[in-house]
Amino acid sequence: MKRVGILISGRGSNMVALLKAMERGEVPARCALVLSNVPGAPGLASAAERGVPTAVVDHKLSATREEHDAKVIARLREAGAEIVCLAGYMRLLSPLFVRAFPDRILNIHPALLPAFPGLHVQRKAIEHGARFSGCTVHIVDEECDHGPILLQAVVPVMPGDTEESLSARILRYEHRTYPAALRLMCEEKVVIEERRARLLLSCEEYTQLVSALMDRGD
Ligand code: GRF
Repeated sequence: MKRVGILISGRGSNMVALLKAMERGEVPARCALVLSNVPGAPGLASAAERGVPTAVVDHKLSATREEHDAKVIARLREAGAEIVCLAGYMRLLSPLFVRAFPDRILNIHPALLPAFPGLHVQRKAIEHGARFSGCTVHIVDEECDHGPILLQAVVPVMPGDTEESLSARILRYEHRTYPAALRLMCEEKVVIEERRARLLLSCEEYTQLVSALMDRGD
């Protein structure tokens, strides 16, 4: 069983999806800590309700990014976290942080990277007339929304979509893609080869996984 730390800044719906998958035994891990940089982030209460230890490290109380990150790293280490999942954590990580957990930090992004990194990406997909968007779980490196891709799910952009409607459609896929990616990490089925992540899965296992992610379920 791996020990996972989850970082949030807000509502934490991806965090809850990860916690539920661990509770159901679908991901061989337990959550050692949910940490927020925002005091009162709604996700903290959801984690506490599920009996998960929580912590707040308010970034406003640090003078620099490195100082804040050093405090977060210390809390994660105290909790024994081996893998860190960013789940709506609205902070750029310093190189100090990335190097503290090399190839062990995951992020979920609500677009098909490398298209649309950054913020408001659902709106950008609509503005560009993209026919498909989706979500990406990737390993965090020192550039924002950039590291090796673990898994993606493709979601159609519908005529008349608003930022809200597209965000909600993508979010449903995020909630299945993130646990599936964390599972691969915990089962040590991910090998990082420069820019790419190679998955140690048979052709059949890979096809099954991708079909499950793509299942419209509606
Ligand atoms: C998600 O869309 C995630 O992809 C992005 O921030 C949002 C967080 O939502 N990084 P939640 O806090 O997990 O509900």
